[in-house]
Amino acid sequence: MKGIPYELDEQTNVTPTVLSKLFRKLHLQPHHPLFILRKQIESYFPHFSYFNTFNPIVTVQQNFDDLGFPKDHPGRNKTDSYYINKQIMLRTHTSAHQLEVFRKGNNKFLISADVYRRDEIDSSHYPIFHQMEGAQIFNMNNAEQETLDDIRYVTLLDSTLSVREEVYDDTRISESNPTQSCHPLEQVDLIIRHLKFSLNSLVKKLFMHHDKNLKIRWIDGYFPFTSPSWEMEIFFKGKWLEICGCGVIKQNILNNAGQNDKIGWAFGLGLERIAMVLFDIPDIRLFWSQDKRFLDQFNNFNHNEIIKFQPFSKFPSCIKDMSFWLDKNQDFHENNFCEIIRNVAEDLVEDVKLVDEFVHPKTKKKSLCYRINYRSMDRSVTNEEINKIQEKVRIDVEAKLNVTLR
Ligand code: DAH
Repeated sequence: MKGIPYELDEQTNVTPTVLSKLFRKLHLQPHHPLFILRKQIESYFPHFSYFNTFNPIVTVQQNFDDLGFPKDHPGRNKTDSYYINKQIMLRTHTSAHQLEVFRKGNNKFLISADVYRRDEIDSSHYPIFHQMEGAQIFNMNNAEQETLDDIRYVTLLDSTLSVREEVYDDTRISESNPTQSCHPLEQVDLIIRHLKFSLNSLVKKLFMHHDKNLKIRWIDGYFPFTSPSWEMEIFFKGKWLEICGCGVIKQNILNNAGQNDKIGWAFGLGLERIAMVLFDIPDIRLFWSQDKRFLDQFNNFNHNEIIKFQPFSKFPSCIKDMSFWLDKNQDFHENNFCEIIRNVAEDLVEDVKLVDEFVHPKTKKKSLCYRINYRSMDRSVTNEEINKIQEKVRIDVEAKLNVTLR
């Protein structure tokens, strides 16, 4: 891996395809939908500090250890995260920067950044996406005043909005989603009210031109760095769509940051998910498009209107199946398979699905059949071009995954 000044080891799994995206910074590119959405969210937290330029290369300590991730947490696996070496990785979430921002003495802030995860391939998954982290902490001896004043003030502002929201929340504090024993109950209760209030208000403002009958649902969640924890969902096109994770910050994180006398909440939300809904963007690869037909559509965005993406055209897809045998008990991880395809096809791959699977009754070998859907976002592809790509994918899959092609 030319050009990165890091020692590589057996944990290294970053790829040139992913590294080439490290400096794109879509959330900082004027008129880009992710830039617009970030600005809009920032405007709803007017008294916060904003951090938008942290380096995506972080230590495993920052990304996991500082936040209390157990050693066996699945997020740490090489199949799920990108490592430069055993100690250095690409951040998997904006929470990786929480501690350093608290350490600098910040009480309310937003962090926006690109984050990196190994994943499957379809219209809503891409190895790089963008998150926004928000946090607010209060003086323990003054939390009541601060939270209630805020709630009153924002309630007044929101009362002028022409949107009716229904909030479903039957979550209860319980042993499976407990408060922290160091927190007096009346105090956490205020923090929780302030958190849920702030996020309900955020979502209401984000979607006010989009959906006049917004439905919001709160469900219990789990994150190593918050307790209690929740996920917030909105009802969209007949389904509950997860918008963010949040909770009451684990006190030892604040203590480690030298903020022992504070108590507070944090949240993290995925920007692409929300932008796909707000702007009607059908495929996550479009965010990476440098095509003027995409980018120019957002040039004149104004907060009070909805801009819907007008697809330039749906180009034909080219579908190729690929089947192979795994030895009895052979390890196989779909993310590794998808990564090989990404590395060869880059943004020409739209979707990868397992379509058939069986075990041979005699040899006990397993056969998998995947359907790979190739399509360009901005032009027609030829069958000849895709055949070449598919041939290269087959060669790489056979060599790197140790499977037997059928
Ligand atoms: N970092 C979490 C994720 O990527 C999201 C999250 C959850 C962030 C809870 C937070 C939080 O700050 O309090 O899935």
